[in-house]
Amino acid sequence: MVKVRATQDEIEAAVDALRDGELVAFPTETVYGLGANASNPAAVRKVFELKDRPASHPVIVHIDQAKYLKRWVRELSPDAEKLAAAFWPGPLTLVLPRAEAVHDVVTGGQDTVAIRIPSHPMARQLLDAFGGGIAAPSANRYGRLSATRAEHVQDEFGDAVKVILDGGECQLGLESTIVSCLDGEVRLLRPGAIKLSQLRAVVGEVQIGANNAVPRVPGSAAAHYSPATPLSIVPGGELDALAKSLSEGGQRIAVLAQRLPLKTYETVTWVNAGKRAEAFGHDLYANLRTLDKAGCARILVQEVPGDERWDAIRDRLARAAVGAAADSGRYSSLGTGVLP
Ligand code: TXA
Ligand code: MG
Repeated sequence: MVKVRATQDEIEAAVDALRDGELVAFPTETVYGLGANASNPAAVRKVFELKDRPASHPVIVHIDQAKYLKRWVRELSPDAEKLAAAFWPGPLTLVLPRAEAVHDVVTGGQDTVAIRIPSHPMARQLLDAFGGGIAAPSANRYGRLSATRAEHVQDEFGDAVKVILDGGECQLGLESTIVSCLDGEVRLLRPGAIKLSQLRAVVGEVQIGANNAVPRVPGSAAAHYSPATPLSIVPGGELDALAKSLSEGGQRIAVLAQRLPLKTYETVTWVNAGKRAEAFGHDLYANLRTLDKAGCARILVQEVPGDERWDAIRDRLARAAVGAAADSGRYSSLGTGVLP
């Protein structure tokens, strides 16, 4: 269930915590953020410490309205303006030339800053009441699954977060689309709810992936978004047979599929997340969290379709497979049907 409004008391407690340099978790339409006052470097450092996140991974600054951009951004290209007008508030993060006053801890010392104006009503209540920028990565330990419910944030961090605003389930469930607008080029750095075709409809040409001439590639440590249980991506046609053969060795096997199993097995925990990309994405992290806790030796995920509705899901699953398994995550490349 989505809960959209916080009480005035809850918002005041969260704003006080931010002003005191404490951390506040809050819902956005994508995933929960772990927020700190973006103008307080010591507070932002706490986010990195709590997440165990390397300083080289900069964080997104969330703001309430485009009129506050000047505080953070040196210049807005015509393309950036068009994208902001088309998709803000919403699940789009723009990487832009940073303004002088932005602290290095926020940007990882780069000359750019990532900015987002979220649309979630509770995030907007918080940003409006706080008035400043909130630096917030996803509210999970570094490399792990993002949190899409307040309980997930609690599981990740316990009481280390001063205030957790509970907005129920996030509407989209996958992190924002990240686009850089630098040096006259528009680049899609991380796929999300806003699709490549939608970006191209607004600005025309969009490059895919980071420009490798620029040293730091965002969000693209290959291993990321991972459960602790080894995860492999398996073609739909091989899924049932592989789950069966692996579980015959006495192991419990988890499956995340887009359909029901052909036959049920006691030792296989099978989740049918359906054939609709939006619903599959909405539930992805919650499903992986559940399966991760189910005491299984492996998680097998059915390969998803190739069309752009699945781009963000395919990206996250590929990274989850790298992060959670010793192999590349592709069962079929191993040939034998028995995973290491
Ligand atoms: O949906 C989202 O984007 C969520 C919610 C909370 O807003 N946030 C989120 O933050 O996913 P995080 O930190 O998990 O992912 C942000 C990504 C990181 O991979 C980071 O490297 C990249 O954005 N990033 C941040 N600043 C950047 C910059 N100046 N240049 C390039 N990439 C940047
Ligand atoms: Mg993250």
